[in-house]
Amino acid sequence: MKDIRKIGIITGGGDCSGLNAVINGITKAAVTKWGVEVVGFTKGFTGLINHSFRDLDLKAVSGILHEGGTILKSSNKDNLFNYPVRQKDGTIEYKDISDEAVKNLRYLGVDALIVIGGDGTLTSARDFSRKGVPVIGVPKTIDNDLPATDITFGFNTSLETICDALDKIHTTAYSHDRIMVVEVMGRLTGWLALEGGMAGSADVILIPEIPYDINKVVDKIAQRDAFGRNFTIIIVSEGARPIDGDVVIREIIEDSPDTVRLGGVGAVITQQLAKLVPHHEVRYTNLAYLQRGGMTSQYDRSLGLLFGVQAVELIMAGKSGLMVQLKGREITSIPLTEVVGTGEIGETSKGGKKQVDPEGQYVKTAKAIGISFGD
Ligand code: F6P
Repeated sequence: MKDIRKIGIITGGGDCSGLNAVINGITKAAVTKWGVEVVGFTKGFTGLINHSFRDLDLKAVSGILHEGGTILKSSNKDNLFNYPVRQKDGTIEYKDISDEAVKNLRYLGVDALIVIGGDGTLTSARDFSRKGVPVIGVPKTIDNDLPATDITFGFNTSLETICDALDKIHTTAYSHDRIMVVEVMGRLTGWLALEGGMAGSADVILIPEIPYDINKVVDKIAQRDAFGRNFTIIIVSEGARPIDGDVVIREIIEDSPDTVRLGGVGAVITQQLAKLVPHHEVRYTNLAYLQRGGMTSQYDRSLGLLFGVQAVELIMAGKSGLMVQLKGREITSIPLTEVVGTGEIGETSKGGKKQVDPEGQYVKTAKAIGISFGD
């Protein structure tokens, strides 16, 4: 195998806290332990095409460990294997321009890539490794919905934000005897609502894995009124749906690998409750992108460093086509094909999500302390 003298980093897809911790860990380990150079491509894979990159040395990554976001910026529209290319007549044609990227890597003397992202970004990582570029993937998402790793970095920081928001919502809910509906992200999984709601003392938690009956939510409010607690906190996942209905779609983004953006179910529930419990005022807060920013938590800084340094170790050991993962308390690795599938026609999709088990320990614990799931 060719000697590794320069490693490139790419951050793709939606951002989350901890990306800078991974960049910090990769750069410090590569430079300090291995004497290897590092460059960071900007705005995901498009940096490979636009020659947009920056050298990362110890100075460049100094002071970024705790910061949210990514110093390299990110993009969720950067699939170089199916890239929108404007034609002379103004129309757009989707083309595979990945060869150009491989050529640019050679030109820049980049011997290996560490790609940090979710499903879409890691699929491109798999495809570049198939083209002979040594690639290691690092999983990220606030949703914690990747089955291949116990925890993704970013999740813990979002939980801290949700918990802090619920603490703040509590005092104003109490003062006005209000019903407060708080919507959180998570796509089609309820981890953020479940763990954030439990720690933030929510009275009702509505998640995609347990379709809700709005009348059961009304029952819980009545129960609290009867107990003399005249306010109720309801946390709802953006992907939650009623027993007789579907999810609320906020937006369709045609040129994104995952076209559907959820959002707004909290507003729908608020309108319904305003009619069903007219003796209470009902208010709605959507935590939205607050969950994606902020100072990175201790846990996410540590996990980011562990993932980043392990990715460098794998590259230097001559490995490719793998993704680092957390299993129990160990950082190990798994083939990217087992994470995102092989992409072969007829393959059963690997794109499954790690969902909350409605009969699992978390839900059982929440129910045991009186939290309603609207079921
Ligand atoms: O997957 C992370 C996530 O924050 C989801 O929780 C949310 O549904 C989505 O990304 C929002 O995407 P965008 O940044 O494109 O609006």
